[in-house]
Formats: sequence, structure tokens, C-alpha cells
Amino acid sequence: MKTIMIHEMPDHVGETVRIGAWIANKRSSGKIAFLQLRDGSGFVQGVVVKEVVGEEIFAKAKSIHQETSLYVTAEVTEDERSSFGVELQVKDIEIIHEAVDYPITPKEHGTEFLMDHRHLWLRSRKQHAIMKIRDEIIRSTYEFFHINGFVKIDPPILTGSSPEGTSELFHTKYFDEDAYLSQSGQLYLEAAAMALGKVFSFGPTFRAEKSKTRRHLIEFWMIEPEMAFVQHAESLEVQEQYVAHIVQSVLQNCPLELERLGRDLSKLEKIQAPFPRITYDDAIKFLHEKGFDDIVWGDDFGAPHETAIAENYDMPVFITHYPTGIKPFYMQPHPDRDDVVLCADLIAPEGYGEIIGGSERIYDYEMMKQRIQEHNLDESAYEWYLDICKFGAVPHSGFGLGLERTVAWISGVEHVRETIPFPRLLNRLYP
Ligand code: 4AD
Ligand code: MG
Repeated sequence: MKTIMIHEMPDHVGETVRIGAWIANKRSSGKIAFLQLRDGSGFVQGVVVKEVVGEEIFAKAKSIHQETSLYVTAEVTEDERSSFGVELQVKDIEIIHEAVDYPITPKEHGTEFLMDHRHLWLRSRKQHAIMKIRDEIIRSTYEFFHINGFVKIDPPILTGSSPEGTSELFHTKYFDEDAYLSQSGQLYLEAAAMALGKVFSFGPTFRAEKSKTRRHLIEFWMIEPEMAFVQHAESLEVQEQYVAHIVQSVLQNCPLELERLGRDLSKLEKIQAPFPRITYDDAIKFLHEKGFDDIVWGDDFGAPHETAIAENYDMPVFITHYPTGIKPFYMQPHPDRDDVVLCADLIAPEGYGEIIGGSERIYDYEMMKQRIQEHNLDESAYEWYLDICKFGAVPHSGFGLGLERTVAWISGVEHVRETIPFPRLLNRLYP
């Protein structure tokens, strides 16, 4: 007999199969027991009828505990109400390991309790759906960039220089030297773009930021494309096409998961390129009109400002041309103004905040050297980076998309802590 997975069951209607599974939940009466089975690939109901299986197997099914592992032998039958359109008519049960007093029960639990049990919480239906959507975003990311001629590049995690400012670096010793965990692979990607034209990375990044918000993780994963001979306007086009691609891929390939999360699909269906653009200057004017007196030109936006701007659109919106003073050293100045740079942040709808930060990069050697000095960066650590401006420098642009914020938005979950398997938060390194 074939051992199969739950997601393969629609191809086996009418057959008797065996699956390895865990008990997600159970209901029973004197004559019939309903086992909610999960095997990672999906959830299915197993029906155990006393008259069919006999006393012994029925007693096993009746007394089985949540999260007990087992092999189930059963006939696959059609059932329109279930997610894969099938149900199992159980014939035999073989218990592998009995789980006793599983801590996460179908009742409500507090967030701290669930976070302490993250290693088990991942087994629940909602977390399962979020992880599947995360996986689909990763899959469709590789698909998009490979279709468009990008080469995947893996920048180092242990680094000697910092792209995004020095205040949020994780310090560590590298034998006798100082090293930092990467806060972005960008500088290395710029060098790689000069070798391979269009590149992208996908990897963990670290921010020793004392932020405790629903959008901040200490360790998060970033997708960072970098493109030689591409300037600001064209980079925005790549960004909107990329984001539309991942949203449409999730809609197409994760319908069960989106349904399980109760996501409003009409909001996602609208997400198609092009996305609206608003300059920083106009965003400030808009905020003043809306009564935000706390912000002046030159300030960075906080979450309430971003949310107010995003509420104007049912698409993600680019805020472009931020003041030079609040952005990193490497951004290319506006050709006609030296107070703003050629950059954009992409703000997701529905209050999910900034999901992309990107810009055109400086490629003039003298200007880059001056910026490094103005930002009080250790010049010796950037010597290699300056070589990009020294040997065949070209206009180039890139951006970074934060995976967890994007998963949160597309899944419609409130907090980024549920969008990564094992979140690293301000006060959490466990489990
Ligand atoms: O805006 P950021 O800091 O940009 C960079 O690091 C650039 N070097 C990227 C590039 O141009 N190659 O970060 C990019 C994105 C943000 O828009 C946000 O989505 C996410 O990374 N992000 C975080 N996500 C979760 N927790 C945090 N602490 C984050 N910080 C940034
Ligand atoms: Mg940013």
C-alpha cells in the first residue's frame, strides 16, 4: 500500500492509502470519532466508525490525544466541504508516539505563552498558512528575478563595514578584529552588479535596534536586487512589477491559506503595476493638511505618518526624493537639488508600513569619498567599496524588500513576529 501525503489525496479517491500524521483535534461520540489529521502538507478529516473498525481500533481513536503521531490506513473519499475535497474513511490506526498534555489547546492563549511555545505553535493552522505564504513569496521572488535575467549572489554575513549607519550594528569579535553582522548586503551587491549586471540576494540581516513595534525584528530576511546601468525611475518600475508578481503568485498558489487567514482577497487582487508615487515634499504638505503639526521638512516619517499617507491609496505607494540628511551616505543626489536624493520607500497599504527602501547610488569617486567622510565612517573599511567608483563606474540602483513585513501585509497578520519561524525580538532569543 502507498504511503502518501494529504495534499496528494485528490489523486487517490477510491483507493486505500496510508499516511503519517499528527492529531490536530478530535471529536467523538459513542459510535463515531472525527480525527482532524495534519501531516505538514495539509489538514484532512479522518472518520472512524466503530461498526467498521471494531472495538479495539475505535477505543484507540476515542482516547487519542492532541498531537499524538500515528499512521492511518484509510480509504480516500470525496467530500466537498473539506479543503482538498476529500475525507478519510479510517480502517486502521497505528500509534507512533502518544503526546500527553500538549500545551497549546484549541482554547485562546496569550501571546507571551504562544511565543514561549513557538516551536509548537508553528504546528497550528494559522501559523502553517503563514509559513506557506512566506514560502510562496520566496519561490516567486526567485522566479521573478531569474525570468528577468538577475543572478543570485550571496553577500557575507560577517562584515567589516556598514551600509545603513553605525548605530544599529551587532558587534562581534572576528579573532583579533572587530566584525559586525550584516545589516544589508547592498555594498557587496553593488560590487557584484559590476561583475554580473543584475543581481539579487536573499538572506538574513540584523539590526540592533531597540524598537519594539509590530514592524520590527532584530533578525529579518531581505531580498536585495542591484542593477548596473539602471537609474531611479527604472528601478521603481522593477519594484512595482516585482511586488505585483509576488502578490499575484500568492493569490494563485495559496488560496486555501489566504482563506484560512480570512484575508480580504479583493484588496490583494487590485495590486497591479504601476503604483502611485508621491514626493517627500508633497507628502509633508499632505500631512500638514491632515493636521499633523508635529512633523517638519527634514524629519523622517513615523508609523502614523506612513499610515496616513498609505490610507489615500488602495495600492502600495512610493514616497520619493527624501531629504539627504535622513538617508544613508551612498544615495545619488537629485540632479537639480542638493537637499534631496534619488530614492524611494515603498509603503504597503492597510497600515503595514515601509516594505522597500531603495535608491540610485553615487558613482562619482570624489563625491562618494566625501560622503564617507561626512558620515564619519572608517575610510579604511570602505576602500574596496570605493573601487566601484574607480574602475569603470556606472549609474546603478537597487533596493531591499523586507520579507517579514511583506508576509504580514499579504497574509493580513497584525505583527511580524508571526511571519518568521523563530522571531528574534528585543527581549526574545528563545526558543
Ligand atoms: O530601508 P532599509 O534599511 O534599506 C536597506 O537596508 C538598503 N541597504 C536596501 C538596499 O537598497 N539594498 O531596509 C529595507 C527594508 C525595509 O523597507 C523594511 O521592509 C525591512 O527592510 N526592514 C525591517 N524589517 C523588519 N525588522 C526591521 N528591524 C527592519 N528594518 C528594515
Ligand atoms: Mg528604510
